[in-house]
Amino acid sequence: MQEQLSSLLAKASIELQAIRTRPELESAKARYVGPNGEFTAVMKQVGAAPREQRPALGRVVNESKARLQALLDGALARIEGSELASRLGPPVDPTLPSADAGPGTFHPLTLVREEVCRILRKVGFTVADGPEVETEFYCFDALNTPPDHPARDPQDTFYFPQGARFGNVSKHTPGERYLLRTHTSSVQVRTMLKGPPPIRIISPGRAFRRDTSDASHSANFHQVECLYVDRNVTVRDLKALLDYLFEALLGPGTKTRFRPHYFGYTEPSFEVDLSARHLPKVNKEWIEIGGCGIVDPEVFKSVGYDPEVWTGYAFGMGIERLAMTLYGIDDIRVFYQNDVRFLRQFAQGA
Ligand code: DAH
Repeated sequence: MQEQLSSLLAKASIELQAIRTRPELESAKARYVGPNGEFTAVMKQVGAAPREQRPALGRVVNESKARLQALLDGALARIEGSELASRLGPPVDPTLPSADAGPGTFHPLTLVREEVCRILRKVGFTVADGPEVETEFYCFDALNTPPDHPARDPQDTFYFPQGARFGNVSKHTPGERYLLRTHTSSVQVRTMLKGPPPIRIISPGRAFRRDTSDASHSANFHQVECLYVDRNVTVRDLKALLDYLFEALLGPGTKTRFRPHYFGYTEPSFEVDLSARHLPKVNKEWIEIGGCGIVDPEVFKSVGYDPEVWTGYAFGMGIERLAMTLYGIDDIRVFYQNDVRFLRQFAQGA
């Protein structure tokens, strides 16, 4: 019987080595250890042997059974290994350089936003954030912009239906409507309501208006807001800050000028123009870049600041307009089209 078992194991070892698939393995199992299998037949002989030989034979058979089982397990492991390999596909060399496009690059609007923030941080401003969904109070009422002001017209502003709920955007007045903010000036109000002066914040972010898209208009665009509140703040401080900002941003030779204007939240108010003739593709002497002024006492009253004590300046400007001036871009729409041929031109160090 010993011989019978050895030759059976030798045969099984050769046969199982050659097995590649699960059906082959199943049929081999049936041939050896199934009810009519060759190994099963040998096992049955143990029962027929004389009683005193049975323990020794039993031991031999058990050892052989364990070796046969190990051969079957080995065959199964090989099959599983090759199934996994075929699912993983051809082998890869992880030391090769990546075939994909490599790391991304910053969008030109991000570059300009970060540069503005960097320059203003140097003179003590910190970045404040506010929600893109706003309420009428923060966007208009607290900014001394009454209900009949054209900026509040549904033709100009995206309002949400009365039933809309935004759990993360607090309302100031029950019943007021939600809207997409038309400017980042709403962050002035949210910041002032958080605590007392002095305040020195900038707030970059997205704003929305019902504009028809063309080379210079987009229904969504970006602004940077700036608010400074302290004692004895004057127009000179405002002008000095803007001169510093635009010279740092656009280089020596950049000039700014103020033109009288009207904004509800500042008095006096100005539009800011800049002259950057030294920049390539700037073909106008003066380019309008934003609005600014001395914070209107009415705004202070609506956030609970004493206008007899506190003074301040504010300004806001469009990031797209600035980026277009800086890089000589003549169509605002290219910022939103995700065309890598455009975006790649702003890749730094790539
Ligand atoms: N909110 C104005 C706009 O979107 C810009 C602006 C004007 C911001 C005057 C200000 C300001 O902070 O004081 O056109």
